[in-house]
Amino acid sequence: MYSDKVLDHFRNPRNMGEIPDADGVGTVGNPVCGDMMTIYIKVKDNRIADIKFKTFGCGAAIATSSMTTELAKGKTIEEAMKITREDVARDLGGLPPVKMHCSNLAADALHAAIKNYLEKGGKK
Ligand code: FES
Repeated sequence: MYSDKVLDHFRNPRNMGEIPDADGVGTVGNPVCGDMMTIYIKVKDNRIADIKFKTFGCGAAIATSSMTTELAKGKTIEEAMKITREDVARDLGGLPPVKMHCSNLAADALHAAIKNYLEKGGKK
């Protein structure tokens, strides 16, 4: 039911944790299930130099958070802003239809963290 990639990211999540002095923080809640996710970013020369996540959610949410941080790391702010919910699910080899809503959290939290960074003055 889950792809090998989903299981791998679920069992060995990349970039899990918190960045205490993050340049941008984004928290979103999933209206479907009530789960929550926070993404922290560190920005250097307009690129995402570091990124971490904390997820209170299901296995698919953990896997998609992990995948999203891998996709975003090293990207420019503009490129990271273009990462979509669909990109995350596709790069994981797909998700079961009932779990598609779980992949929304990660991309939304990433975008919220970038917006937070830009609102704080961005660009450095
Ligand atoms: Fe809540 Fe997956 S069931 S994020």
